[in-house]
Amino acid sequence: VIPLSLQRRVEGLLQEHLDRAQLKAENVGGSADDAMSTDQTGDISLDENKDSFPDHSVMERILQRRSLRMRNMQRAWQESPEGRKMMDFRKSLPAFKEKEMLLQAIARNQVIVISGETGCGKTTQLPQYILESEIESGRGASCSIICTQPRRISAMSVADRVSAERGEPLGEAVGYKVRLEGVKGKNTHLLFCTSGILLRRLLSDHNLNGITHVFVDEIHERGMNEGNFLDLLPRRQDLRLILMSATLNAELFSNYFGGAPTIHIPGFTYPVRAQFLEDVLEMTGYKLTSFNQIDDYGQEKMWKTQRQLVQRKRKNQITTLVEDALNKSSFENYSSRARDSLAHWMPDCIGFNLIEAVLCHICRKERPGAVLVFMTGWEDISSLRDQLKAHPLLGDPNRVLLVTCHGSMATSEQKLIFEKPPPNVRKIVLATNMAEASITINDIVFVVDCGKAKETTYDALNNTPCLLPSWISKASARQRKGRAGRVQPGECYHLYPRCVYEAFAEYQLPELLRTPLNSLCLQIKSLQVGSIGEFLSAALQPPESLAVQNAIGFLKMIGALDEKENLTNLGTYLTMLPVDPKLGKMLIMGAIFHCFDPVLTIVSGLSVRDPFLLPQDKKDLAGTAKSRFSAKDYSDHMALVRAYEGWKEAEREGSAYEYCWRNFLSAQTLQAIHSLRKQFSFILKDTGLVEEDASNNNKLSHNQSLVRAIICSGLYPGIASVVHRETSMSFKTMDDGQVFLYANSVNAHYETIPYPWLVFGEKVKVNTVFIRDSTGVSDSILILFGGALACGVQAGHLKMLDGYIDFFMDHNLAECFLKLKEELDKLLQ
Ligand code: CDP
Ligand code: MG
Repeated sequence: VIPLSLQRRVEGLLQEHLDRAQLKAENVGGSADDAMSTDQTGDISLDENKDSFPDHSVMERILQRRSLRMRNMQRAWQESPEGRKMMDFRKSLPAFKEKEMLLQAIARNQVIVISGETGCGKTTQLPQYILESEIESGRGASCSIICTQPRRISAMSVADRVSAERGEPLGEAVGYKVRLEGVKGKNTHLLFCTSGILLRRLLSDHNLNGITHVFVDEIHERGMNEGNFLDLLPRRQDLRLILMSATLNAELFSNYFGGAPTIHIPGFTYPVRAQFLEDVLEMTGYKLTSFNQIDDYGQEKMWKTQRQLVQRKRKNQITTLVEDALNKSSFENYSSRARDSLAHWMPDCIGFNLIEAVLCHICRKERPGAVLVFMTGWEDISSLRDQLKAHPLLGDPNRVLLVTCHGSMATSEQKLIFEKPPPNVRKIVLATNMAEASITINDIVFVVDCGKAKETTYDALNNTPCLLPSWISKASARQRKGRAGRVQPGECYHLYPRCVYEAFAEYQLPELLRTPLNSLCLQIKSLQVGSIGEFLSAALQPPESLAVQNAIGFLKMIGALDEKENLTNLGTYLTMLPVDPKLGKMLIMGAIFHCFDPVLTIVSGLSVRDPFLLPQDKKDLAGTAKSRFSAKDYSDHMALVRAYEGWKEAEREGSAYEYCWRNFLSAQTLQAIHSLRKQFSFILKDTGLVEEDASNNNKLSHNQSLVRAIICSGLYPGIASVVHRETSMSFKTMDDGQVFLYANSVNAHYETIPYPWLVFGEKVKVNTVFIRDSTGVSDSILILFGGALACGVQAGHLKMLDGYIDFFMDHNLAECFLKLKEELDKLLQ
């Protein structure tokens, strides 16, 4: 087993490399502060290596000097005209009135819990108050504040905003860091990052040395952080922990931290009138009676099969149910089961057409002000946008500015959301629930709330993540409504009956209870805090023990943990890779077996998203375009590799645009895959798993069997057997469950698949269980690379990657494997 010291060293090296690259990128050569630029001290505040400065007096002098400089710069800004103007705005925020009280409370207590309406200034102001007051009192250079955000995009936009408020470029005193990306410099003392980044930091530094304040923002969405702090706090008496949220159950957190004080920042929001479906129907004159309207949530399905006919009948029943729900008294007579089915079908009922009708009503009849529409996901957003674009009023750019807001949008797009539209043009923002709490759009006066959010839920019993739109909580609904009252009194249209609202849960489940725990368990293991189960059971709302058992079982199966739940070599390497353990394993295997490039593309693709587009109205054309990349590989993963390589080629020839257009590919996604590839490859080079010499890493990249085998090694145990029956073909997973292929999988286009198995990355429950991307593999591959228990033959060869990592440097495994496979194929014939 690799000793931890080695792991630390590798991590340290990695960080050093990244920092160096960053410094290079920021081009910080000619800094005015000569003392700093000549003595190469680097990130004193945010990085640990204090030991390497034995001479404390020198260190202190440097710090003093930096602190002084920071104070001078801060004062200069505050006294400048722009600085004053900015200060006036900041003073108008509700948090400002509480500033002194908050600073005192933070100084006196190790942990405090702060609540306050969204927009009152928690995220942008509170960490900034600390920073300013530390700088003002001459301790600027020794303070180091971290503030976590639930999403990448909020970390980035908040850092941007706070630097602007301080009149500095991003990466000076304020910076951000999200997975594989960041802007921070040697003078950064306030860092906005995702919780994952803080977690990784904890991995390499159990005490968070050098950090003075940790803000955990939007704590209601939390992953696991609070558990980590319980044992850290006694060790770091000087560390301050501040938990913040707009919608939090303050008492729950306060109790968890031994009665930490709670502070509420009273907000000023203008009153917002809530209207429910019943009011909305009356207001718009929209009739919710016919089957057509029920089905118009972007779905014009043909009812082909028996099953669908049954569903259709059920939908008709649902219409009645909705109607009864509008009339509360009879709704209450329904059984809870009937109400559940309403919950399931509701998104279909509140069709796009209803949203369109509400938007038209606002544009025609209501006062000026921007509209924020909460949708469940990107797909819905883009379909609705297309529908609205075709509308005579809503699609008229002289009257309506239509923008979208979702997690995977580009930064340029993100800026549009905050922009002021020209006079007499109404801004309509279509957003996922990310606009609920983590970003603030100032000019919103109207909110349309569909009542659902697509969140990953986790079905521990079937060990399947589900991506279903589910009802939001009351807290979320209030929060959505609150978005309308920021500049003047507002209106909120909830597109569900009031009685349905009343049946909502008070708060949303924390993320810990909604996702499979594979990565998390691996990280806990490398934190060396003892047994995973025990550690997690100390969390505030611990996950089901079944979910924990599943995760541990999975990590053992892929060889990341041994029988005693200790990290194996493979596991240790996996903790260094910022990807899902499955994909991490695939990368490592690709490196070891000298077919790095294609595997790198596959892993990057699977971590970004599918670059193959599937427009609703051109599904067939898009499917055909994709299958052109398959070339009888029976593999979506290899189609991805070909598509990517084709794109690179087209780019060289200057025809990338046509290439994407012709092949239904998203240039943006391909670009993202491209940059992720670079970063993974960088990290792997740093861990020493791949060599600098690219030709050696790709000696065997052309070998299809091998690439297939590597895909299998990563995706196992995601396998399904291919069952041929006369004219039809079906797929069964190991636990005998039937699964279906996604419509745009290349494998869905074949009549037969000449492989007994398909390996797949993800199965998702959306009514029935679907598998997304799949690759056909042979028995021999599964035996050699799938792990034990595969197709009834004791395999075990590669179950533990451990042995391999130990000697891969001097043995040519790939050739061994190919020989072995040849013999096995003969044997199995
Ligand atoms: O965290 P919280 O929701 O309490 O508020 P915040 O994000 O700190 O934002 C405080 C105020 O700063 C908002 O009400 C906006 O007026 C303003 N702000 C902005 O103008 N631009 C941003 N990117 C973020 C905030
Ligand atoms: Mg905030």
